[in-house]
Amino acid sequence: MANVAVIGAQWGDEGKGKVVDWLASRADIVVRFQGGHNAGHTLVVGDQTYKLSLLPSGLVRGKLGIIGNGVVIDPEALLAEIARLESQGVRVPPERLRIAENAALILPMHPAIDRAREAARGALSIGTTGRGIGPAYEDKAARRAIRVADLAEPETLSLKLDELLRHHNTLLAGFGQPTFEKEAVLAGLLALAPRILAYAEPVWQRLDEARRSGRRILFEGAQAVMLDVDHGTYPYVTSSNTVAAMAAAGSGIGPAAIGTVLGIAKAYCTRVGAGPFPSELTDSIGTMLGDRGNEFGTVTGRRRRCGWFDAVLVRQAVKVAGIQGLALTKLDVLDGLSELRICVAYRIGADECRYLPAAPGAQATARPIYESLEGWNGSTRGARSWADLPASAVKYVRRIEELVEAPVTLLSTSPERDDTILVRDPFEG
Ligand code: IMP
Repeated sequence: MANVAVIGAQWGDEGKGKVVDWLASRADIVVRFQGGHNAGHTLVVGDQTYKLSLLPSGLVRGKLGIIGNGVVIDPEALLAEIARLESQGVRVPPERLRIAENAALILPMHPAIDRAREAARGALSIGTTGRGIGPAYEDKAARRAIRVADLAEPETLSLKLDELLRHHNTLLAGFGQPTFEKEAVLAGLLALAPRILAYAEPVWQRLDEARRSGRRILFEGAQAVMLDVDHGTYPYVTSSNTVAAMAAAGSGIGPAAIGTVLGIAKAYCTRVGAGPFPSELTDSIGTMLGDRGNEFGTVTGRRRRCGWFDAVLVRQAVKVAGIQGLALTKLDVLDGLSELRICVAYRIGADECRYLPAAPGAQATARPIYESLEGWNGSTRGARSWADLPASAVKYVRRIEELVEAPVTLLSTSPERDDTILVRDPFEG
């Protein structure tokens, strides 16, 4: 039985919540392996709506959740999210949630630096979530991060805080921002340490046992390939690797254990935050997609930018992340449009380009070359089989498969969990 890694294939917010929830219901363990509480999933189960940021989705379904070492953890945000879930009747005892002891922490100076830097960038700001994700990953790479296990050693914590504050207070002062007092930060950390440590362990051991005993593991990605720090539209990206390979390094398991890589893509395209978006629509069709698709960020509440499906980018995501099957979501948002467009190449200066180059100038000036397809009159909403779909909708999906060079293995036709056309079960490999 294969494991499954599920990742976004565009710029995030592809409707992962529903697909991950469905997959989680079939898994034994759900693992987060990168990102932090910048992510946002909305899960609708019965008459309850759960908003998750840091916790693996499977918790709501009673599955074991694991937060891997590749995640940056804001301990206060984590405890607040646990409290929120518990107030909705979902218990999160340590038997249900395990946290990698070697995961790096997000501390109060990280969001402060994140926001100060964004403000200083002015018109060139990245549009981060302001949650300190980037600064926390920087500290990890700079070898000064405070990690979960450090919470058990007050002396280590004190020494590390000295170094951390020397660095961050210097920066904050330079930005004209208030600095942090060591004693207050230390006292705050020591106060929450026992509650965090109750969840901590070497999760790699548990994952190894799970793998050997044939339990199904779902690796739940956050953000998406075009926000990957290496493969995305740098510098307008998040600060972690979002590709499926990160599931191995970010949880402490070998690459062969990742199993099937499922990419999630919307039937059109959206992006929050700044950065290149060649197929963006700033006209009434873009507004219509945003309204119909309810395109507002779960975490930020910001309106998402909308555009036509960009097959060049999704194909690139398929290649760099090793996506074996696509889950296509929100097809119903396109219902009733007389013409649909798919971006099949870019015009960059005098050249036609079939991939997005890395140079920022090229990314900013890439103009979409579209293929036009006939829309459909009927509704795809709630369809549960190919036979329920208008012929033009089937053609649209088939054309996407050809262009991105990956099969659509799952098609979601409404927010309802059962309104899904399953072509192949990803857990079957
Ligand atoms: P950061 O991850 O907060 O540093 O933000 C960097 C970029 O990633 C910004 O453009 C954010 O809008 C974007 N981003 C971060 N998390 C998500 C997400 O879960 N969905 C969509 N975009 C995200």
